[in-house]
Amino acid sequence: MTLPIRIAPSVLAADFSRLGEEVRDVVEAGADWIHLDIMDGHFVPNISFGPDVIKALRPHTKAFFDCHLMIAPVDPYLEAFAKAGCDSITVHAEAGPHLHRSLQTIRALGKKVGVTLNPATPLSVFENVLDDIDLILIMSVNPGFGGQKFIPAMLDKIAAAKAMIGDRPIEIQVDGGITTDTIGAAAKAGANVFVAGSAIFGKGDKAAYRTEIETLRRNAETARA
Ligand code: DX5
Ligand code: ZN
Repeated sequence: MTLPIRIAPSVLAADFSRLGEEVRDVVEAGADWIHLDIMDGHFVPNISFGPDVIKALRPHTKAFFDCHLMIAPVDPYLEAFAKAGCDSITVHAEAGPHLHRSLQTIRALGKKVGVTLNPATPLSVFENVLDDIDLILIMSVNPGFGGQKFIPAMLDKIAAAKAMIGDRPIEIQVDGGITTDTIGAAAKAGANVFVAGSAIFGKGDKAAYRTEIETLRRNAETARA
């Protein structure tokens, strides 16, 4: 099953003093999804923002809000992120002992269900929940910070995830160190959703965001074809 290439800029690299404008600009520049990185200073060694910021951003765009929760525990906060306006909610398999319960909760809240894995976590943790998810996020850096280097060993992991899902219409997302240089290999391996923070927002303004998003998309499509 071939799903569309989607470019998902992470607002972690945006100018936080004018987030609404940044989100509008990047959507006008061609972004498919907006990736929202939530960090708690406990599961990951950094703190970002919470559901109230997402709620404040929601009126600025109709774009799909793709929420990546790097928090533990996660279950007590799922409803708040759903109510804030997230369209998908992705949880770390490492965040708690009851992954299936977290996935059921997200489904019951009416949101797309995502699971993600740190680089060192094997794919086997979700082989028993494949029929309960819409998205698999392969972390290609250790989560917590933008601007890190892509870990090349994650290419084999993407390919193995692609093989594992079979015909299921599950999105395969990759997050961390995606640039115009690394996106092709990730697309070739089987990913179709590409998170990029510094590669896009680091470029400065809307015109530059557009050029970068176009190049990312072209490189992914060329590598896949
Ligand atoms: C890392 C986050 C990423 C990060 C990606 O913990 O999950 O989404 O913002 O940043 P870049 O694209 O700069 O590697
Ligand atoms: Zn992320």
